[in-house]
Amino acid sequence: MSFSSETIVVTGGAGFIGSALVRQLLDETDAFVVNVDKLTYAGNLDSIPQAKDHRRYALERVDIGNAAEIRRVLSAYKPAAVLNLAAETHVDRSIDGPAAFIETNMVGTYTLLQETLRHWNALAPAARDKFRFIHISTDEVFGSLGPYGTFCETTAYAPNSPYSASKAASDHLVRAWRETYGLPTIITNTSNNYGPYQFPEKLIPHIIIRGLAGLSLPVYGDGLNVRDWLHVEDHARALRVVLERGKAGECYLIGGRNERSNRSVVETICDLLDQAAGSRGAPRRSLITYVADRPGHDRRYAIDPSKIERELGWRASESFESGLAKTVSWYLSNRSWWEAILARGYQAERIGTARKS
Ligand SMILES: NC(=O)c1ccc[n+]([C@@H]2O[C@H](COP(=O)([O-])OP(=O)(O)OC[C@H]3O[C@@H](n4cnc5c(N)ncnc54)[C@H](O)[C@@H]3O)[C@@H](O)[C@H]2O)c1
Repeated sequence: MSFSSETIVVTGGAGFIGSALVRQLLDETDAFVVNVDKLTYAGNLDSIPQAKDHRRYALERVDIGNAAEIRRVLSAYKPAAVLNLAAETHVDRSIDGPAAFIETNMVGTYTLLQETLRHWNALAPAARDKFRFIHISTDEVFGSLGPYGTFCETTAYAPNSPYSASKAASDHLVRAWRETYGLPTIITNTSNNYGPYQFPEKLIPHIIIRGLAGLSLPVYGDGLNVRDWLHVEDHARALRVVLERGKAGECYLIGGRNERSNRSVVETICDLLDQAAGSRGAPRRSLITYVADRPGHDRRYAIDPSKIERELGWRASESFESGLAKTVSWYLSNRSWWEAILARGYQAERIGTARKS
């Protein structure tokens, strides 16, 4: 089963992970890519420079929650697969303003499922068998781990933030559309991604950009919260493997076996910046400031990726050390990409501190 010259809808293709997937599909396959993206603050067409005037690319500036528009797109392009990466994704924003998360992640996914089902029902039998709806989700749906153990495909859901709850709800909808209507869906749950073209609100670019400017480097709580890091290009490759070889009805956890505490990530970025850009007197580690923790901050996430490694033959190729060094170097060499975001008015202020009453 090959999708390498099929038409593929990628929702959220102007976002961080979606753009990595679109870049790979354009550069490494013959697929026709339809990027369905609302272009929220997080969407950025500068992240897919090769898409401009590409003969195998179309942009549809559409909200996944707009049923009529999604119906139009699916009937115009007749895709063989839909990969859903459109979402509201920033946990801190979900604490201050959960409504957009409910709208896009839950209602939007529902709408996309309904319209995809309509499209799928109208396909010829062979095309129906081949069709895939792949829903990209997060390991945050599983809640927080203690010091030991890992998440796997059978871990019970226990989301703690409005973001992870909205993603958990969307995963359940996707599962139900498979079980109830037979739509060939697959769910992937992934750990924290990092790499080029990530919006500056997320930890790694946030610290790189502030560190370059010599500003204080805020670390939440004691900095010992642990995340399991995956390079975005490895993730995009994993999604392509899931598309080609994943079994309908299955879930796959995608991770890079790279657990690091936030403190250690920030310290490593400081050292890399000192080496690459000079330390201006004091080492950048001296800029680290511990600030009030995020409410409901999950302590540890860790993914056991053995199912996708064993069954689909995918494995992360980037080590965290080499991937982080490349990422720091990318932000140094591609200032215009993130300076344009700052120039549009993005301000890295602290949000998401609302406490339980
Ligand atoms: N970034 C991570 O570390 C990470 C980890 C695990 C899972 N995920 C999941 O992967 C997916 C992609 O994450 P990301 O980091 O690339 O997100 P992102 O915030 O960088 O990009 C999201 C994209 O979706 C678009 N979008 C938002 N609402 C939309 C709507 N209603 N209709 C159409 N488009 C809309 C935005 O314009 C943007 O281009 C999300 O589902 C997220 O939950 C992300």
